[in-house]
Amino acid sequence: MLVLALESSCDDTAAAVVDAVERRVLSNCISGQNDIHTPFGGIVPELASRRHIEMVQAVAEAALQQAGCTLADIGLVAATQGPGLVGSLLVGFTFAKAVALARNLPCVGVNHLAGHLLACLLEAEAPDFPYTALLVSGGNTALFRVDSPTRFVCMGRTRDDAAGEAFDKVAKMLGLGYPGGPLIARQAEQGNPAAFRFPRSWLDRDAFDFSFSGLKTAVRKVLPQTGRPDAAMTADLCASFQEAVVEVLVEKSIAAAHKNSHQQMVLGGGVAANQRLRTHLQARGLEEGLRVFLPALQFCTDNAAMIALAGFYAFQTGCQSGPNEDVYSRAALH
Ligand code: KG4
Repeated sequence: MLVLALESSCDDTAAAVVDAVERRVLSNCISGQNDIHTPFGGIVPELASRRHIEMVQAVAEAALQQAGCTLADIGLVAATQGPGLVGSLLVGFTFAKAVALARNLPCVGVNHLAGHLLACLLEAEAPDFPYTALLVSGGNTALFRVDSPTRFVCMGRTRDDAAGEAFDKVAKMLGLGYPGGPLIARQAEQGNPAAFRFPRSWLDRDAFDFSFSGLKTAVRKVLPQTGRPDAAMTADLCASFQEAVVEVLVEKSIAAAHKNSHQQMVLGGGVAANQRLRTHLQARGLEEGLRVFLPALQFCTDNAAMIALAGFYAFQTGCQSGPNEDVYSRAALH
């Protein structure tokens, strides 16, 4: 069955066509918005939803064209229903419902986090169920037990900032720009990760929650009173900050996999693009006898291919969205 999927939960307008039974991605199109948000140092929701409106049809048409198919070949329409920015979500979800209504196709609303947790299945080498997943992005940082394509149990989540948000805020403090993750990672390549011993927030022993706000404050405290740190200090700050984030993410993920008695671990979300996180998780996984699955970057960041797959599995269990269904800004995964 071919699934046409839309994703517009934040600042990317994405559409994809996926052969869901074969788990084959026929197209995966994304129109980003960094150009309009960069001057503000973060995402401006009103601007994001306006740009989604301008782009959604063109991106959906591009996805169909690149897949070499038309709406006549599509068997299911899926779209992110939440969580995310309401104005942004409404664009993709309403578009999907309208297409489904016009073409008499079933439509299914998808939880964005379910998409991230299943994105690893789009790779040729995919894990079997069950597995432990670390979802780490600009809006979320959480550990999940993934029992099946539709059963996810949250083991812990951040109590304050998401890891990507912490990267973005620290980059802003250092005057590096937006989005901060890749900019900090680039600076960190030249820096010494042991130059500053920033706190690691382990919270309660055996707890799988995260907290990054104290780390952010610790970085602020070592900044010079006036002016910006010089190039060498900036690189050291970035490397030391990144190391503190990565160490906590990796050790908590490994502890979670052991608690679940799982042998497989999966990484997802925009921060999964971080090379230090990828290599350290892989190395520690090896030491601990765990197989680590790192999806390609195009499936880690927000994309519609993962929404197509998650939508297909939800549809198989009987889920469908009627024309009057609304989006949601927050919701637990169930
Ligand atoms: O999943 P995603 O594309 O969308 C949101 O959740 O918004 O993740 C974006 C987040 C941003 O906070 C960005 O700074 C972070 O992922 N990010 C990174 C890297 N690339 C993107 N963080 C650390 N290192 C990177 N290389």
